[in-house]
Amino acid sequence: MSSINYSEKIPNNVNLSEDRTLQRALESWQPDFINWWDDMGPEGTTDASVYLRTAVSVDPQGWAQFGHVKMRDYRWGIFLNPGEADRKIHFGDHLGEKAWNDVPGEYRANLRRIIVTQGDTEPASVEQQRHLGLTAPSMYDLRNLFQINVEEGRHLWAMVYLLHKHFGRDGREEADALLQRRSGQEDNPRILQAFNEQTPDWLSFFMFTYFTDRDGKFQLCALAESAFDPLARTTKFMLTEEAHHMFVGESGVSRVIQRTCQVMNELKTDDPKKLREAGVIDLPTIQRYLNFHFSVTIDLFGADESSNAATFYSTGLKGRYEEGKRTDDHVLKGQTYRVLGVSGGQLVEREVPMLNALNEVLRDDYIKDSIGGVERWNKVIDKAGIPFRLKAPHKAFHRNIGSLAGIKVSPDGRVVTDAEWAARVSDWLPTPTDRAFVASLMGRVVEPGKFANWIAPPVMGINRQPVNFDYVRFA
Ligand SMILES: [Fe+2]
Ligand SMILES: [Fe+2]
Repeated sequence: MSSINYSEKIPNNVNLSEDRTLQRALESWQPDFINWWDDMGPEGTTDASVYLRTAVSVDPQGWAQFGHVKMRDYRWGIFLNPGEADRKIHFGDHLGEKAWNDVPGEYRANLRRIIVTQGDTEPASVEQQRHLGLTAPSMYDLRNLFQINVEEGRHLWAMVYLLHKHFGRDGREEADALLQRRSGQEDNPRILQAFNEQTPDWLSFFMFTYFTDRDGKFQLCALAESAFDPLARTTKFMLTEEAHHMFVGESGVSRVIQRTCQVMNELKTDDPKKLREAGVIDLPTIQRYLNFHFSVTIDLFGADESSNAATFYSTGLKGRYEEGKRTDDHVLKGQTYRVLGVSGGQLVEREVPMLNALNEVLRDDYIKDSIGGVERWNKVIDKAGIPFRLKAPHKAFHRNIGSLAGIKVSPDGRVVTDAEWAARVSDWLPTPTDRAFVASLMGRVVEPGKFANWIAPPVMGINRQPVNFDYVRFA
């Protein structure tokens, strides 16, 4: 079950050839996917062959397959983790019942919506990142970008498989629509706002893969608990791919910081102006990018109180992060959770039914996890002997969803007036000048082993290859 059949047109470990109708439907979606990739995938890369990993099985060892391939020949396919015999639903109103292999009719609309919303983020991020290859700071980084792009393409396949197999005609229509929406396009945008923002430069890319791919991790973890077993199994495998994306983000930001600190020590200055003249990104600018990506990403978890969140949980569609490790009753009726709101111009906590606050629960778990990496970045700064600390902003800072939308809060959590916000926002969020400066550093460096001036080389290469390996071969 776990080994992948690559002899078929669509590589898979789901015995696709046994279901001719489904196989034909997916084979007819496949050329549309390739057309989308040609249109919206990484720009100007058709002939490059890239040192990519390809899954040969869903076992941990199955990742050991690396080789140079042209991206459009990447073997996108359908890989589910093996099923657990007699898996039981372990939360919500169906607790203790047998997990479903098919979609119960009454939950069909909600499940489809969950799968489509997740599926839509995958091609969206490829679209957001499609110009970055032109300004890669090294061949190593270029390869990592492309690895992420092909895997987001595969995540789209994962969701499209579920739509085709389990949702009939509606599912096929949704699968087509996933190739029609476009990130940032006015008349047919991607579903979630963060996926319509641009990823204009590599600092944004590293912040995005650290923060926003981590949102992906938390959503996938919650879906990996689902009573709908095919969704649980496919998201478990997607999570193994996601780990690399977050690694690229965390190590990328870390290398930017390392290089900045090195130049700060060489020039014995913390003056942003001098550092910019030396061609590195000053730490306050990195902090502003962090503030932006953190706040935009935590909006993705949705409104702090949501009856949909309650329904998704109670009906068994979407669990909590690490549901299985929690020791409460996994039904949550009558329990409460504290969410933040505003009253009399102050942030106040209030208790709400926990079921309605499950978006907030997932957001809080996310925040804990994402702060870990910020602390690891601070170690790089500490090690260089520089008295500066990066900090994740307050949860209420720069929010656009839920009860915190529409109020102005500083990164340290003070409610501020519109006047103070206007006076200070350029200290808190990237300014057009910051973005123009970062953009000015983006030049293409793709000679093996060479790195742009604003970023340190990685500690090691990919798959134990040297850092100066030819990760991308241009035709
Ligand atoms: Fe993804
Ligand atoms: Fe990802």
